[in-house]
Amino acid sequence: LVWMAGGLTSAALTPIALANGWNMPVGVTALSRDIYSLHMIIFWICVIIGVIVFGAMFYSLFRYRHSRGAKSATFHEHTSVEVIWTAIPLLILVAMAVPATATLKNMYDVSEADLDIMVTGQQWRWRYEYLGEDVAFTSNLGTPREQISGADEKGEHYLLEVDEPLVLPVGQKVRLLLTSDDVIHSWWVPELAVKQDAIPGFVNENWVRIEEPGIYRGQCAELCGKDHAFMPVVVEAVEQERFDEWLAERKEAAAQEAQGVDREWGMDELMERGEQVYGSVCASCHQPDGSGNPPAFPALAGNQQMLDDLDWHVDTVVNGVSGAAMPAFRSTLNPVEIAAVVTYERNAWGNESGDSVQPSE
Ligand code: CUA
Repeated sequence: LVWMAGGLTSAALTPIALANGWNMPVGVTALSRDIYSLHMIIFWICVIIGVIVFGAMFYSLFRYRHSRGAKSATFHEHTSVEVIWTAIPLLILVAMAVPATATLKNMYDVSEADLDIMVTGQQWRWRYEYLGEDVAFTSNLGTPREQISGADEKGEHYLLEVDEPLVLPVGQKVRLLLTSDDVIHSWWVPELAVKQDAIPGFVNENWVRIEEPGIYRGQCAELCGKDHAFMPVVVEAVEQERFDEWLAERKEAAAQEAQGVDREWGMDELMERGEQVYGSVCASCHQPDGSGNPPAFPALAGNQQMLDDLDWHVDTVVNGVSGAAMPAFRSTLNPVEIAAVVTYERNAWGNESGDSVQPSE
């Protein structure tokens, strides 16, 4: 009965699913199209097998039912039937395995990439490093939560917004090296046919060659904690020329940011910058008013250990607390941002320690 119910449900759902676009997307890369056709071939083979098997079963149930006086046949060993039901499934499996193996081989071939990008998952944002290019940034820093995910004007689709998308050149083979700073995340963009786990202490590889400029959206696909649902991925694919301009702009900005280390920062500008950083990075756990959520997320307002020990405070922000929920921010925040946020935490919410921390390498 369970089988029959399952068979009938899938038979009814298949046309509904196909008509409503619930199928996987065809995608915008040669590989995504290969994966899509493979999926469809296997899908139709399964549909045909399902129709034949359930058709024969229902026919027999009805045609040879007990009330019509049917007697069950008993026989022992039937060589030709056994050969047929072994040979046919074998042929079907081989027919599916040949294209599947070719596609898998292509999927895992990360050689000869034009561009290497390190992707690091962090609760709950993505860090992108363009290897060999001195360009790195953390996407989702500072994106208000309500902006990350919400319905569009038609109230239908979810927008997955980030402040800085991963920008990639079209037509180039981009190798992605994925890892994580804390727990397991998964970098998933359906239209690029990439879904790869980002595992702490481990580097996974994948690749993508996008053919059409455009914006492709995805999100973290591994349950990774409280804000798992607010960890979107946005990829912006642009023409090579535009990509080169963008890269040059980013390098310029990084060079300017680095100069911030060499100059003296005033209390007001540290506080202003610090409030920004606090709001986008720290407030989700320690609360906007610094009241925290003890014991997992200690209060910062009036926190005596923090106020008494500046070195410990800086060290905690830079290196995190091992074994606790506090991550290391040394790769997420630059020296200016770390100095600013520490200054802010020491002087906001009535703390007024008067300490200002200057950025240094
Ligand atoms: Cu990161 Cu879910």
